Amino acid sequence: MAFLRTVVPYSTPVLGENRVVLRYPAMADHAAWSVLRAESRAFLTPWEPVWASDDLTRSAFRRRLRRYQREIRDGTGFPFLVFSAPEMVLVGGLTLSHVVRGVTQSCSLGYWVGARFARRGLMSAAVRAVLPFAFDTLRLHRVEAACLPHNAASIALLEKTGFTREGYARRYLCIDGRWQDHLLYAIVSDDPRR
Ligand SMILES: CC(C)(COP(=O)(O)OP(=O)(O)OC[C@H]1O[C@@H](n2cnc3c(N)ncnc32)[C@H](O)[C@@H]1OP(=O)(O)O)[C@@H](O)C(=O)NCCC(=O)NCCS
Repeated sequence: MAFLRTVVPYSTPVLGENRVVLRYPAMADHAAWSVLRAESRAFLTPWEPVWASDDLTRSAFRRRLRRYQREIRDGTGFPFLVFSAPEMVLVGGLTLSHVVRGVTQSCSLGYWVGARFARRGLMSAAVRAVLPFAFDTLRLHRVEAACLPHNAASIALLEKTGFTREGYARRYLCIDGRWQDHLLYAIVSDDPRR
């Protein structure tokens, strides 16, 4: 994994291994992001919070970036876009959010890929690239992830990259407009990575 500091919007770290590059989003990404999200709507919406009616617009994207900038500045969230390498085509997104310090030192992992990029190993590569950032750069102890019990793709991804299933939370997150039960997964800093 490469970790470089570069002069790009808000000092984004650029993470990656052979197949993917991760960096923070910028306004210039709106066109590719909105096209990919729009064409993948049916693929993504069963697994995500309900999209606001203006979600794909430029002004909503600008508000999203302002929120991201605040989170990065405060150290509470780290939102990445995922690009295929070496051609640098936007394929999806991955976010470390809800960073909690003190005695906890944890964060939550979320991710998505565009429908036409699914099942190519790209999100596995992105998760593998972000774990050293979480553990070595942010010095977190624990990365958590939650997924719906019938999300076979997400379960396979987490288990393949070294996460352990730890629990089951009833009505945990409001996904697709309903409070739904979730499987709880985590990886801690000294777990083996795969
Ligand atoms: C979950 C998601 C990000 C996986 O991304 P991906 O790039 O397709 O994942 P990968 O190609 O790296 O595959 C990871 C593993 O999942 C498996 N997998 C992927 N899609 C699958 C599916 N639909 N059914 C069963 N297994 C699947 C792959 O086979 C692979 O395991 P393997 O190497 O043992 O075969 C993607 O399916 C997605 O965006 N889904 C919709 C949104 C979503 O579910 N977000 C997460 C909410 S918790």
